[in-house]
Amino acid sequence: MATTEVTISPEDIQKSSAPERVPEPCIVVIFGASGDLTKRKLLPALYHLEQDGLLPENFAVVGVARRPLNDEFTQDMREGILKGGGVDPGDSRLRNFLARVHYHAMNFDDAEGYLKLKNLLETLDRKYGTNGGRLFYLATAPEYFAEIVEQLGAHGMARSDRAAVRVIIEKPFGHDLESARRLNDQVNKVFAEEQVFRIDHYLGKETVQNILVFRFANGIFEPIWNRNFVDHVQITASESIGIEGRGPFYEKAGALRDVVQNHVMELLSFVAMEPPVAFHAAPIRTEKVKVWRAIQPIQMEDTVRGQYGAGTVDGKPVVGYRNEERVNPESSTETFAALRFHIENWRWAGVPFYVRAGKRMAQRETEISIQFKQPPMLLFKDSIAAGKCNEIQPNIISMRIQPNEGISLRFAAKVPGPTMQSCPVKMDFNYATAFGVSSANGYERLLLDAMLGDATLFAHRDGVEATWSLITPMLEAWASTPPKDFPNYAAGSRGPRSADALLARDGRQWR
Ligand SMILES: NC(=O)c1ccc[n+]([C@@H]2O[C@H](COP(=O)([O-])OP(=O)(O)OC[C@H]3O[C@@H](n4cnc5c(N)ncnc54)[C@H](OP(=O)(O)O)[C@@H]3O)[C@@H](O)[C@H]2O)c1
Repeated sequence: MATTEVTISPEDIQKSSAPERVPEPCIVVIFGASGDLTKRKLLPALYHLEQDGLLPENFAVVGVARRPLNDEFTQDMREGILKGGGVDPGDSRLRNFLARVHYHAMNFDDAEGYLKLKNLLETLDRKYGTNGGRLFYLATAPEYFAEIVEQLGAHGMARSDRAAVRVIIEKPFGHDLESARRLNDQVNKVFAEEQVFRIDHYLGKETVQNILVFRFANGIFEPIWNRNFVDHVQITASESIGIEGRGPFYEKAGALRDVVQNHVMELLSFVAMEPPVAFHAAPIRTEKVKVWRAIQPIQMEDTVRGQYGAGTVDGKPVVGYRNEERVNPESSTETFAALRFHIENWRWAGVPFYVRAGKRMAQRETEISIQFKQPPMLLFKDSIAAGKCNEIQPNIISMRIQPNEGISLRFAAKVPGPTMQSCPVKMDFNYATAFGVSSANGYERLLLDAMLGDATLFAHRDGVEATWSLITPMLEAWASTPPKDFPNYAAGSRGPRSADALLARDGRQWR
């Protein structure tokens, strides 16, 4: 079923998304600049901001990494930007942008390197009029976060009397509760909390921000968004890809740390939080933390873990996790996790939140679905259209975070014809169709917000510690009882059977 949609032109979107403030002059300093993230996401995102006229005029980028690179670095960044698409290679704007991209080779533990970096930044301040404004971006492996922050502090680069100095820290932020607390302490020794931007790129996605607009800019959903009307909530974050050669990283991470502690918990808080008093960082973070703190300690019987074996993905045979490069052939690392959460507050008591995240699943899909209770009396239960619908199905609002970003509502409709037959149909809102543009990758919005000092879409120290407090006991329980049935799902499947059983026991099933 199609909806009537108001189509908004890209020019309207450009106008409506113009920020009230333009960032102050600054240099973006990326640590780990020869890595994958910088080339694939960060530089393309910065250039998109430049194309949209959202960067300050007085602006430069300095990439920092170990390898001695100079022109090759600019060349590599150019390649990354062009690969991102929508860029004319001959555009003079691209040439001018790249002319402001510099590189500094050093080892992260080399004090001398920081002194030279400081001098370079001061020279560039004079050249570009950036006036001491800094946005440090730690796009490195997490073991370097504390070292870099400490060195920035020791070399007087964490503060400026003239301009804002901020730091973005990539995920994963900590490995468990204790290490997250320790890292928070180390970071807050050098940077005040309002200078710190812990990034989760999911929060930059339009569809995630739209959860708040959907809930709080419409009058019709909020009255039914509670235990009186909602039967349960499901959050799925599945990927069809495997670990993409990142064996050593994934062996230490696993699905709980890699996806559930951050992305999934963020999505859950957006769905479950109370309306904030304003759309600002502090009230939103307060409401999110209240949700996480209301989640009951998780029992082992509310958890399922899995690891993929060999199988077929997109028609091609793929190896099992234990046969991936640089993975222990007897690894107990989970590549799938499913959990049942209970949020004990007035809004959600008694409404289970089922979440699952996995690699090498049948399809790539991140979706939240809110399943509503059935009407009190099933008036049409004997009039289901034969062959088309097998049962009366409950209303579901599903929010697709990726791909095909959008929102749909499932409801029953009468099948045309002389008899009274009903069948579920869908009302569908699709981002790309409605707005004529597909949503950006998230880094644009987050980089711009950080330059503007807006921390609304970044994790606060309290939030990070609240989510680790929930996940850490589960990690410990799993570590103390090694799984006996791994691998327990085939690559390209819907995950382990025990995940289906988790819902079946409550008389429910995954979507
Ligand atoms: N890649 C993604 O799509 C993605 C997505 C979300 C989050 N992240 C997070 O972003 C961070 C970076 O990921 P990545 O994939 O870009 O990593 P990566 O490709 O492994 O790059 C690591 C970077 O760190 C530099 N480096 C390592 N050790 C160094 C040292 N001792 N001194 C100086 N430089 C050093 C490397 O420089 P050399 O090459 O010169 O040694 C390289 O530039 C990680 O925290 C990751 O979890 C990545």
